[in-house]
Amino acid sequence: MRAHLLAGPAPRDFRMDASAPQPLIALSGIEVSLPSEAGLVHILRGIDLDVADGEAVGLVGPSGSGKSTLLMVLAGLERPTAGEVRVAGRTFAGMDEDALALFRRDNIGVVFQSFHLIATMTALENVAVPLEFAGRRDAFDRAGAELEAVGLGHRLGHYPSQLSGGEQQRVALARAVAAGPKLLLADEPTGNLDGATGAAVIDLIFARHARLGTTLVLITHDVALASACDRIVQLKDGRIESIAPGAGRGALAAR
Ligand SMILES: Nc1ncnc2c1ncn2[C@@H]1O[C@H](COP(=O)(O)OP(=O)(O)OP(=O)(O)O)[C@@H](O)[C@H]1O
Ligand SMILES: [Mg+2]
Repeated sequence: MRAHLLAGPAPRDFRMDASAPQPLIALSGIEVSLPSEAGLVHILRGIDLDVADGEAVGLVGPSGSGKSTLLMVLAGLERPTAGEVRVAGRTFAGMDEDALALFRRDNIGVVFQSFHLIATMTALENVAVPLEFAGRRDAFDRAGAELEAVGLGHRLGHYPSQLSGGEQQRVALARAVAAGPKLLLADEPTGNLDGATGAAVIDLIFARHARLGTTLVLITHDVALASACDRIVQLKDGRIESIAPGAGRGALAAR
């Protein structure tokens, strides 16, 4: 009986499929169309993209091509008009706003170009608040340690208005990564910074990625920075125009 089975055509091994690594991000057919005075604007026109767990993707493209919109879709902050978003095995469509907020809190860190710090809170409080919401008893200790890690241990009690742009961006980064997200989304995190300060922020982001295997989607106009990622995804007019392999972290050292 056994010999008979073995002699037949090789059975398909479904377990091999099941054990194949699942992408951390799976986007299929993503469209975003928003009404405007001039009629419906088609911002994203069918994006299909998988990002592997632990991968760093540089997202590039001309102004208005839809990069920030795609990042907002990935963060669950913008609902696509069509298509499916899956992050860490969860499909966003079935989640209401509260479920999405909880999922984001536990899995996704976002760094916005314009920092988005709370003006009435100190650096320490800005980083600690999401940890407190997550029920972390050590929220303030952890926040202090994260700020220390980005070189701001001496600025814990400063309000955003008392911090330089680079310092505010580092607070925003500390806040985004404090809860140990699987996925870090960054929208031109160095766009408002001078070269040296921007390089320091990027070093922090890549160090995190290397140390903890954090998956990274990084929007940038900086060619060297995009090249330092594992893949470079180029958007144009709301579509993926090309996907190219990156050149490795050496691309940053070379500049
Ligand atoms: N709420 C909105 N309503 C209508 N159109 C919008 C809205 N938000 C964005 N857009 C349009 O969608 C397009 C894509 O915007 P998006 O911010 O995603 O571009 P981007 O690639 O991030 O550009 P940049 O490099 O300038 O930041 C732009 O043409 C923009 O004007
Ligand atoms: Mg943008």
